[in-house]
Amino acid sequence: MTSQEKTIWIIGATSGIGKELCKLYADDGWQVVVSGRRVGRLEVLKETYAGVTSLPLDVTDNEQIVQAAHDFGENASLPDLTLYCAGVFHIGGLSTLTDDVCVNAMDTNYFGAVRTIHNLFPLLKERGSGQIAIISSLSGYGGLPYAASYGPTKAALINLCEALRPSFDRANLSLSVINPGFVKTAMTENSKLPMPFIVSAEGAAKRIKKGLDRKSFEIAFPFPLVAALKLLRFVPYWAYFRLVALTAGKRNSS
Ligand SMILES: NC(=O)c1ccc[n+]([C@@H]2O[C@H](COP(=O)([O-])OP(=O)(O)OC[C@H]3O[C@@H](n4cnc5c(N)ncnc54)[C@H](OP(=O)(O)O)[C@@H]3O)[C@@H](O)[C@H]2O)c1
Repeated sequence: MTSQEKTIWIIGATSGIGKELCKLYADDGWQVVVSGRRVGRLEVLKETYAGVTSLPLDVTDNEQIVQAAHDFGENASLPDLTLYCAGVFHIGGLSTLTDDVCVNAMDTNYFGAVRTIHNLFPLLKERGSGQIAIISSLSGYGGLPYAASYGPTKAALINLCEALRPSFDRANLSLSVINPGFVKTAMTENSKLPMPFIVSAEGAAKRIKKGLDRKSFEIAFPFPLVAALKLLRFVPYWAYFRLVALTAGKRNSS
């Protein structure tokens, strides 16, 4: 199948990493279906790039995802690749543990991905091909003081993908979890945190596409941060907390 015949569905395409991925895949000749809540931005993508169609939806509304999956199935237009990019981030520690913030973060970052997988998997399995990729984050590797409401949603996504990988394998489908470090987007623009090895949204999109082309299970970057955070999993907690405090600083952790 040539890239001209392939379709990608990007959920969370109206800004940041998802928007850059839309550009990248459209430039590569794919048909791109873009989703998000900001309809105006979806329309701009549709007008700017060839092969883009707009499918507005809110991932916190289960019915909208059920309907989208049903429509793809009915029209025999199931995506070859579905990329779940939707996410919200409220920076902070204890102060972010309000019902509003935490429920919305879990609903958007985690349950939206669950709804997407739950509704697409049976259709892709029946067709016998398909790839789903979920953007999590390096903050899902371990608790970080400025991400008390966000980190758990990303840890849950990594765990979910690990749990589901064997089922995808058995169905001959591909599942990837994408764990970026800091990326320059609206999500990070007002942050006063130290953001080591931050990459541009364009750079992040290129790394993600390369990993997805190879169907890697985990796509994680940048390497120095990935290596440091993976190593932190093996140190005792007294050392973990000291090292995290050194790198994360004290700001935004209340
Ligand atoms: N930036 C970073 O440093 C970084 C690092 C690691 C992981 N990530 C992850 O990468 C993904 C993309 O983030 P980004 O940095 O590109 O941030 P962004 O520019 O703020 O993009 C977030 C996207 O999520 C969509 N979204 C949010 N709530 C939604 C909802 N209820 N329904 C549908 N779409 C929704 C937004 O679209 P609408 O507002 O139009 O709905 C937007 O397109 C997120 O999962 C984020 O957690 C980011």
